[in-house]
Amino acid sequence: MNTELNLNKARREFIKATALATGGVFLHGSTFAAGHSNVDDTIKIALVGCGDRGTGAAFQALATKYNIKLVAMADAFQDRLDASYKNLVEKYKEKIDVPKERQFIGFDGYKKAIALADVVLLVTPPGFRPIHFEEAVRQGKHVFMEKPVAVDSPGIRKVLAAAELAKQKKLNVVVGLQRRYQSNYREVLKRIQDDQIGDIVSGQVYWNSGGVWVRPRTAGQTEMEYQMRNWYYFNWLCGDHIVEQHVHNIDIANWVKNAYPVSIQGTGSRAWRTGKEYGEIYDNHAVELTYSDGSVIYSQCRHFEGITNRVDETFQGTKGRVYLSANNTGKLWDAKGNEIYTHNGKGNANPYQTEHDELFEAIAKNEYKFWDAERAAKSCFTAIAGRYATYSGQIIKWDEALNADNDLMPTTLSWDALPKILPDENGIYPVARPGKIKVI
Ligand SMILES: NC(=O)c1ccc[n+]([C@@H]2O[C@H](COP(=O)([O-])OP(=O)(O)OC[C@H]3O[C@@H](n4cnc5c(N)ncnc54)[C@H](O)[C@@H]3O)[C@@H](O)[C@H]2O)c1
Repeated sequence: MNTELNLNKARREFIKATALATGGVFLHGSTFAAGHSNVDDTIKIALVGCGDRGTGAAFQALATKYNIKLVAMADAFQDRLDASYKNLVEKYKEKIDVPKERQFIGFDGYKKAIALADVVLLVTPPGFRPIHFEEAVRQGKHVFMEKPVAVDSPGIRKVLAAAELAKQKKLNVVVGLQRRYQSNYREVLKRIQDDQIGDIVSGQVYWNSGGVWVRPRTAGQTEMEYQMRNWYYFNWLCGDHIVEQHVHNIDIANWVKNAYPVSIQGTGSRAWRTGKEYGEIYDNHAVELTYSDGSVIYSQCRHFEGITNRVDETFQGTKGRVYLSANNTGKLWDAKGNEIYTHNGKGNANPYQTEHDELFEAIAKNEYKFWDAERAAKSCFTAIAGRYATYSGQIIKWDEALNADNDLMPTTLSWDALPKILPDENGIYPVARPGKIKVI
């Protein structure tokens, strides 16, 4: 028997075993369903959230060397799904099998799309991630999901519970904190864990850049549609930019420390982005993450135009120091300042592609290798707690904050329902004033 046939046989056996272990849910709607007569090696994927990154993630899944087929798509908006479908079909016509009846529009389409796939790509704005991830795990699907994985404490608790269930069901879960899949970070982290710079006593992590897009209000939009389109500026959808972007660098702090902070304090404001088109979020946060061993990592993020930008991480250890950046740089020095390792970035793989190459390899080989959800949830929670600290001006304690009952999600999800945050008669949204509002 050739290798491929062996692989198919191994997969059939693994899937049968997983189906027994999970009460069959793993196989629902899958090519590999027990009793399905046409067992083949096609891995069916569904895309939930067909925007810029979702379309990119689908490209990356389809670019892996495995037999992947996109069979379902779901988006809140018809125009976003149509644009994504067009892009994908232009490049991968033979791998796209998403007729109209497998294109789902609105808030509830995700359930139907998830049911049709073996692996789901969850790439909406992060406010929806806990609901979508919980459903994907309930249905027994492998998952690629983008960061952040939630925007508030109840959302994080939901993701942590689903992460635990995913482990029990042996579902591979990769989260798009792509530095974890980037070779300079992997090489440097190996050396830090190998004690080359000793215990980490301090650090600095940064995401200082210009801002992102604004999607202006258009005539006839309901408040719900406006916030959904302009999602970056509303916490129930985005979590603020400390969560949406800076989580990447905060996750590196937690990875380097191999721990999560016990308390967090900081300060922030709106200095540059003050108009009503910027909703309720801040444009700068400066936060201290204190770990149980007393070490403190300083975190800074801002969206200001026209001044010095910096997106990277530095850490100081008892025997040396380290510099890391997503531009493929990684350097270690000993205590005397001698360089002890420099990462050669030439020819390094694109980490966005590596995420999918490694995930689909595990799935194709019927291996259980990825359980990113728990650590991603904890790093996202670190960033969320940073927002609690800057908005409230209080010292935030990890355990207490994680148990907070501050669900930001609207009570009803429909186009004419109202989100919890609303503008005043001049179109201005309330912005957190430390000392004046209750955050948790
Ligand atoms: N890892 C990275 O470097 C990276 C880079 C960019 C974006 N992202 C993450 O990817 C996610 C998406 O960002 P984006 O830039 O693609 O935004 P986007 O606005 O381009 O796309 C989001 C899509 O989700 C859809 N959507 C919203 N609510 C939905 C719902 N309830 N059900 C189905 N579809 C829904 C929107 O209509 C839109 O098409 C975010 O979490 C973002 O942080 C990660």
